[in-house]
Amino acid sequence: MKDLKVLIVASECVPFAKTGGLADVVGTLPKYLKKAGVDVRVVIPRYYKIDRTKLTKHHEPLGVNMGTIGEQWCGVYEGVLPNSDVPIYFLDHENYFGRENLYTEHHGEGFLDNDNRFVFLSKASFILCKMLNFQPDIIHTNDWHSAIMTVLLNTLYKDDPFFSKTASVLTIHNMQYQGIFYKGIMDVLGIDWKHFNYLELEFKDCVNFLKGGIYHANAINSVSEGYVREIQTSEYGYELDGVIRDRFDSLYGILNGCDYDEWNPKKDKYIAQNYSRKNLDGKKVCKEDLQKTFNLPIRDDVPIIGMVTRLVHQKGIDVVAEAIENILSLDVQMVLVGNGEVWAHFYFGDIMARYPHKFACFIGYNEALAHKVEAGSDFFLMPSRFEPCGLNQMYSLKYGTVPIVRATGGLDDTVVNFDEKKLKGTGFKFYQLDSNSLYNTVGWAVYTYYNNKKGMEKLINRGMKQKFTWEESAQKYIDLYHDAINKKFES
Ligand code: ADP
Ligand code: GLC
Repeated sequence: MKDLKVLIVASECVPFAKTGGLADVVGTLPKYLKKAGVDVRVVIPRYYKIDRTKLTKHHEPLGVNMGTIGEQWCGVYEGVLPNSDVPIYFLDHENYFGRENLYTEHHGEGFLDNDNRFVFLSKASFILCKMLNFQPDIIHTNDWHSAIMTVLLNTLYKDDPFFSKTASVLTIHNMQYQGIFYKGIMDVLGIDWKHFNYLELEFKDCVNFLKGGIYHANAINSVSEGYVREIQTSEYGYELDGVIRDRFDSLYGILNGCDYDEWNPKKDKYIAQNYSRKNLDGKKVCKEDLQKTFNLPIRDDVPIIGMVTRLVHQKGIDVVAEAIENILSLDVQMVLVGNGEVWAHFYFGDIMARYPHKFACFIGYNEALAHKVEAGSDFFLMPSRFEPCGLNQMYSLKYGTVPIVRATGGLDDTVVNFDEKKLKGTGFKFYQLDSNSLYNTVGWAVYTYYNNKKGMEKLINRGMKQKFTWEESAQKYIDLYHDAINKKFES
């Protein structure tokens, strides 16, 4: 069989631009696809933060027909994903992407032209393929930002011989963000208004990019089996559960892998001392370093509960806010690194001022601190309202930092609840998302820390043995690509 050619289009990718786990996936999966023989290439916007001096500029600019907006041009820069030869292309349109933030104004509201920005990314990616003479077997879109490409493939490019063999895949990393815009965007997309109907793009008299993607993609997946089940229910489907259920035949769950080159206590370059399952001495040093970094009392006998998270509703931070004073009434320390909703910045800042010996936070995004928290904490708290996959609990397991999670989506799939009798499991789980359940479960973990040393050792040891490899996930994506191609040509 000939090598598959795959174009992955997304809004973020490590190490170039990241707000969350999507970037980790887009920056890592392609390396493993490449190792498995796939000719894979990645496209993202060239945001302000991405340094052009380290990239190669293509001489030809790229023109995109943006319907009623007219023709828009961008430059194309090329680089590679670090430690690989996977090409990555950056679309350089100053007006659309030359901004500090990826999606939002500083006060947190989405940019008003997000529709045009990501239609541009989507349309330009097709033209880029032609410019590079790269005829993909698969266009792999991710979330609403590029989902509309699946619609364009079946409409604008339906009769274009260049894409006649191309099938599409949509990966849903998050059902909550759907890309819902004023319907005038139809005239920028430049496709027939007949597609503005309740099955395809119309949603409450607006255009919904994710809905269009779900309808049009040849195959759809999300990032854990558990979340795939959940999004088919009204509780988790964010009003698209019916649309997802209609595509049941083409719906798959593929758990993300963990990038153990980046997240590995044996070789992590950000932490005070490296360590392994067989020799945990370094973890104690990391704990002390974490306490120093956050100005907390240096004590090796107190459990530290860490959190690294976007401070948004999805992550259950409102529930943490409700439970935190109860949690801090225990003999614990807590460290939080995160940013997001403005109220939370003030709220947790205030808690730090009131409990300086017990709670510390860094409001902002900081890669080094994220690693230090994973390594130096005893527990890692993820009380998510929903969690399509979740990467931090995988990192925590690897770092011997016992996860405390709400049993949802990928968290439920990757963490096994502690069994006190058999001393089995890898973490602590709770089901109901309310402050009592959260507090009780944190209490259970803290009790275990102080009173059940054997149990803690087993939890840490078993957690550190867990493996969520990208090799395995990449193989599943390759199967999914073949499935998408079959689906396209059987219909
Ligand atoms: P999500 O993508 O929903 O935010 P994931 O668990 O999949 O959740 O991935 C989050 C990723 O973003 C992890 O790699 C985590 O370490 C990182 N991250 C989140 N917030 C911060 C922050 N404030 N500083 C550094 N890294 C962060
Ligand atoms: C999303 C989800 C997260 C997932 C990540 C990568 O941001 O919220 O659970 O791990 O995408 O797929």
